[in-house]
Amino acid sequence: MQRDKRGIFSRLWTRLTSPSARWSVLSLVVIGVVAGAGAVIATEVVVAKTGTNAFCGTACHSMQWVYAETRQSVHYANPSGVQAQCGDCHIPHGYPEKLWYKAKAGVRDAIGEMRGVISTEEKFKQARLAMAERVWAEFKANDSANCRACHDFTPAALATQSEKAQARHKGRTKTCIECHSGVAHVEPE
Ligand code: HEC
Ligand code: HEC
Ligand code: HEC
Repeated sequence: MQRDKRGIFSRLWTRLTSPSARWSVLSLVVIGVVAGAGAVIATEVVVAKTGTNAFCGTACHSMQWVYAETRQSVHYANPSGVQAQCGDCHIPHGYPEKLWYKAKAGVRDAIGEMRGVISTEEKFKQARLAMAERVWAEFKANDSANCRACHDFTPAALATQSEKAQARHKGRTKTCIECHSGVAHVEPE
């Protein structure tokens, strides 16, 4: 038998680009769809699990300071029983921004955890204003989209609010975060 003198990648490329004699087109399509669906489901599960209070608050040593504060806040326990998860406020809700944001924030947080930039409460207190400013800028840029995902001020909802709240919310020209910072953590000085 004549030996194929081409390199391994060249031979692999030829195999990958020639039609299969063994598999029907239908079976290849089915394999593709199943693999694709599996990847989508796996991504959804990972995204959901890595946005929870349990994961974000405890997976990294560095997050214990904010997590302790979150547990004291109205968004953790309230009369309605609806609990906001870290990701509900901090991660965009739509695709593909959600995946892009998670990839960036995940890498930054992992490096920060390894370098120990906020490994002690002292270091955290010094760094928190700069971190909070970054979060405020995000909320200002998207008109507090993540707040509005839960708080939808329909006329009926407005009618149930205090006079003071209604006055500020009707014909709103500022975004939520400009009046309501510190809703899940202690607001930095
Ligand atoms: C996961 C849904 C969710 C998200 C996201 C969310 N909230 Fe809330 N928020 C709630 C719930 C539930 C309550 C408690 C309502 C109650 O039971 O009175 C609440 C309460 C509040 C209150 C009343 C506080 C008090 O002391 O009574 C304010 C103000 C508020 N949220 C602002 C915000 C802002 C600003 C954001 C964005 C940074 C935000 N919320 C994001 C669900 C959410
Ligand atoms: C111009 C400032 C301002 C803006 C902008 C603003 N709020 Fe408020 N909000 C207030 C004030 C003032 C109150 C009343 C607080 C009080 O009574 O102590 C209030 C009350 C609330 C309450 C409690 C409702 C109640 O009846 O007590 C919630 C929830 C809330 N705001 C969420 C939001 C969300 C979400 C946004 C963005 C869509 C937003 N606010 C935008 C000033 C503002
Ligand atoms: C209701 C919305 C909301 C929830 C829930 C929430 N955050 Fe925040 N977070 C904010 C806002 C708004 C800021 C900006 C500072 C401020 O206003 O308190 C912030 C700031 C931060 C900061 C910067 C440091 C600081 O104190 O400002 C970190 C870190 C952080 N959050 C992590 C978390 C983690 C981890 C969780 C879950 C355990 C969480 N957040 C839950 C809204 C939220």
